[in-house]
Amino acid sequence: MLKSYEVVVIGAGPAGYVAAIRCAQLGFSTAVIDEWKNDKGEARLGGTCLNVGCIPSKALLESSENYERVAYKFGNHGISVTGAKIDVAKMQARKDKIVSQLTGGIEMLFKKNKITWLKGHGKFSGSGEKYMIEVTDGGKSEIIEANHVIIATGSTARHLPGLPVDNETVCDNIGALAFNAVPDKLGVIGAGVIGLELGSVWRRLGAKVTILEALPDFLAAADTAVAKEAWKVFVKEQGLEIKLGVKIGKVTRGKRGVTVEYETSEGKQALDCNKLVVSVGRVPNTTNLGAEAVGLKISERGLIEVDEHCRTSLPNVYAVGDVVRGPMLAHKGMDEGVMVAERIAGQAGQVNLDTIPWVIYTAPEIAWVGKAEQQLKADGVAYRVGQVPFSHNGRAMGQDETTGFVKILADAKTDRILGIHIIGSHASEMIAEAVVAMEFGASSEDIARICHAHPSLSEVVHEAALAVDKRALHM
Ligand code: FAD
Ligand code: NAI
Repeated sequence: MLKSYEVVVIGAGPAGYVAAIRCAQLGFSTAVIDEWKNDKGEARLGGTCLNVGCIPSKALLESSENYERVAYKFGNHGISVTGAKIDVAKMQARKDKIVSQLTGGIEMLFKKNKITWLKGHGKFSGSGEKYMIEVTDGGKSEIIEANHVIIATGSTARHLPGLPVDNETVCDNIGALAFNAVPDKLGVIGAGVIGLELGSVWRRLGAKVTILEALPDFLAAADTAVAKEAWKVFVKEQGLEIKLGVKIGKVTRGKRGVTVEYETSEGKQALDCNKLVVSVGRVPNTTNLGAEAVGLKISERGLIEVDEHCRTSLPNVYAVGDVVRGPMLAHKGMDEGVMVAERIAGQAGQVNLDTIPWVIYTAPEIAWVGKAEQQLKADGVAYRVGQVPFSHNGRAMGQDETTGFVKILADAKTDRILGIHIIGSHASEMIAEAVVAMEFGASSEDIARICHAHPSLSEVVHEAALAVDKRALHM
């Protein structure tokens, strides 16, 4: 007899494991298939996010920021520290422990919710009354059947043609999170989120970091004012070297690293580095999924085609997270997972892709939700702007973190908030207020009339809302 489940989830990253937990809460017999193995060959839940993404990168960002504070910044507070050192092995062990705690935590949650964890690769093998899914692990394979399938197979780092990644010298996110020493010279291809976050980690610890970016504009996805401020801080003040409009040429491996030949408007150049990180985006995991066995539609870019409720081209088959359209962010995938579970249960779950927050965990942090000013201009929308710096804020001064600003964009006629952009310390936390405001269809006047604790960084959000109507109190 085949094992049969009401719901089978393929992939146990944030989109898949959250979908499974919600399905179990709603009373469905649920199994999750996942093939992830750590560097010791042990099966682990949590996908990219917990194992080689959000969580380990944030652990290293915090360690490196603390090092930089102790080594260079505490002097301002009258605290003198000499001989600050970074023990990379210990830093990595701390990161690994956090990863184990969290991946182990999901295992516990699966047990608590009676979710079956099937270790191995999952692919459709056919369908009749139910969907048949083959689970393969090493030489072993079994077929299980499901009434509903949720595909949450996530994404993998995109690599460049002719530039194989060995995760020793040429690394993607997996290798870049596991260096056992600070490289003297680190090259990064791609000045996107990973390039900036991981480039910042190793720069703070002492590496000379050069980032080569194909686009002529820096941080094109962010609001232009934020991108301009970020460039000033990261490049001019912190010493991250970023080359724009780069065309990568030949990459030659030597004994001590690699040489990257590249071309910009200034002509042909070469970058010597001990390690090279390739962070040029991610590709959805849709190969070897047995899509052809059941007629599942996959786009030219490899994304599974879905509607606004994450329904695929097949009845009772859903897809969530990085493997479908929308931003490749863990929280977006988790929300989709919950929505789909609730839809299977006949409920009305939904996800608003217009209010998904973005955060880049550099220092200062960058966070935004909604439209950027350049998008409003391009769309011909009439808007008003309130922009207030952290430099006048008492809490920011106390924390010695006065860089950056909050910028609010509101509809010129209705005052409805269209976008909120923050560059500054703790932007990742402050953006939550912006998301709540936008979800409730708030106007800038609404935020202006809400009491914000004093002294707090959130007062700058309040002031920016007042500034939309040109009545900021502290400017
Ligand atoms: P994944 O997390 O990729 O999980 C998919 C799982 O499915 C994996 O375990 C995979 O092994 C498994 N799988 C795939 N195919 C099969 C198959 N056929 N059979 C069985 N198992 C399969 N996002 C944020 O929101 N915040 C951050 O701070 C952040 N930081 C990041 C830092 C880095 C360095 C990286 C690389 C990414 C970061 N992201 C961040 C993005 C985030 O990790 C992804 O958006 C998120 O993990 C996507 O979740 P998912 O569940 O869709 O897929
Ligand atoms: P990205 O899309 O953020 O940035 C890739 C960059 O590489 C772009 O600026 C692109 O123009 C550039 N690029 C592409 N091809 C190139 C080439 N041939 N030469 C030079 N530059 C090239 O992708 P990244 O940084 O790899 O991250 C992948 C995704 O993971 C992000 O888009 C995001 O969804 C997620 N992520 C989220 C984080 C967060 O939420 N804080 C942190 C890290 C990753």
